[in-house]
Amino acid sequence: MARVKLQRFKDNASRPDIIEPGKPQYEQLGGRWRSEFFIQPFPLTLEVGCGKGEYTVGLAQRHPTRNFLGLDIKGERIWRGSSRAAELGLRNVGFVRMRAEALAAQFGAGELAEIWITFPDPRPRDRDIKRRLTSPRFLALYEQLLTPGGMLHLKTDNEGLFDFTLDTLAARPGAVIERYTRDLYSEVDAEFAEAQAIQTNFEGKYRSIGVPIKYVRFRLT
Ligand SMILES: C[S@@+](CC[C@H](N)C(=O)[O-])C[C@H]1O[C@@H](n2cnc3c(N)ncnc32)[C@H](O)[C@@H]1O
Repeated sequence: MARVKLQRFKDNASRPDIIEPGKPQYEQLGGRWRSEFFIQPFPLTLEVGCGKGEYTVGLAQRHPTRNFLGLDIKGERIWRGSSRAAELGLRNVGFVRMRAEALAAQFGAGELAEIWITFPDPRPRDRDIKRRLTSPRFLALYEQLLTPGGMLHLKTDNEGLFDFTLDTLAARPGAVIERYTRDLYSEVDAEFAEAQAIQTNFEGKYRSIGVPIKYVRFRLT
């Protein structure tokens, strides 16, 4: 493994804002993130598949009286988000290294106020439908962890994943699509302001080659 990557993994092991397997807190925070991990017990927003954490950090800057947690399986990516949060002096941000599949083991029922899913891997093969982060099994997980009526947001460049998500929501009793667009940056509606305000690493790459960004905001209950 490259030296830089190894050093970043070492850094992650000693950073209090990063929770990962092997740290005692990893087993202990479920149901207690707001009171025991964050300085203030503000409502908690989770970014699933946060990569380098642009959304987690950007939202934390915009909303100092809320807490934000970025989740990703890649340690080197969350190192970047954690470094940026430190540079900015943010105290309402954390990162957790884990698979989204294990969410129910790490969070308590109703513990999340909001979820952002930013540019998830589209998983186009039929046999990978279950692994899409907006598949019925993930929606069931999110519903369990959100406060009733908690909001979810998806941003993606991928038409197939976007259509799949809208179809999955249409087929799900109780799911309510609040707003959606197939070309986020052509919208002038203030309803889309938060989704337009922050750009992720992958988003920047797709926008630079002219791919329209798709966005949907929805609730599950
Ligand atoms: C296409 S990247 C997008 C990263 C970032 N959100 C962005 O927009 O730049 C997808 C991210 O999701 C993470 N990821 C994919 N499947 C995951 C899973 N099952 N659990 C946790 N993270 C996952 C990957 O490691 C990767 O960082």
